[in-house]
Amino acid sequence: MGLDSGNVTLPRPRVLILISGTGSLADAIMTQAQSPDFPAQVIAVGADREAVGLAHAHRRGIDTFVVAPADYRDRNEWGGALRAQVQAYQPDLVVCAGFMRILPASFIEAFSPRLINSHPALLPAFPGAHGVADALAYGVKVTGATVHVVDTGVDTGPIIAQQAIAVQPDDDEASLHERIKVIEREMLVRVVAEIVGRRIEVTGRKVTVS
Ligand code: GRF
Repeated sequence: MGLDSGNVTLPRPRVLILISGTGSLADAIMTQAQSPDFPAQVIAVGADREAVGLAHAHRRGIDTFVVAPADYRDRNEWGGALRAQVQAYQPDLVVCAGFMRILPASFIEAFSPRLINSHPALLPAFPGAHGVADALAYGVKVTGATVHVVDTGVDTGPIIAQQAIAVQPDDDEASLHERIKVIEREMLVRVVAEIVGRRIEVTGRKVTVS
């Protein structure tokens, strides 16, 4: 399967997804990528633990790998192993979709700006691992999701796309997160399709795709 360019069929750009949990965002990308019209193929799904979400890749015959920090002496060694594993797949885009670990600078330098993350809040509000709970505790009436280029900060990279949803009076963390994930999946799939085969340029906080 590939992109038709005149009478030559080019292979579609290669996406590698990193996850830590249930992998519903990764599943949404893989579902779309099954269509030959989607402008990217998912070549592998990696995790920092035996994440249940790896099953979405297994059942489609897509490669998976686990690079767990516990198997390395320190964060740098773990980051180096993860970088080598990801580089071996020669991805055109690396997508952190519920990958719950801070990547070391050497990893980010190797892939950014072709390294993006989806976050369940409207950054720069509520960065970090508890974005949904923090937004709820603060009492915001509107929250949402952000897709951004990964930089060396925690959810601080230049923003590619955002979408907002209303917080309902009876929301708890689980109900709010589920509604956010509905828009996150759509937005992440759209962003991957839009940027994967294009040049991504970051100037200050601005991301340009050409
Ligand atoms: C998403 O909300 C993502 O932004 C956050 O973790 C969630 C992952 O969901 N970091 P899933 O594992 O893809 O279902």
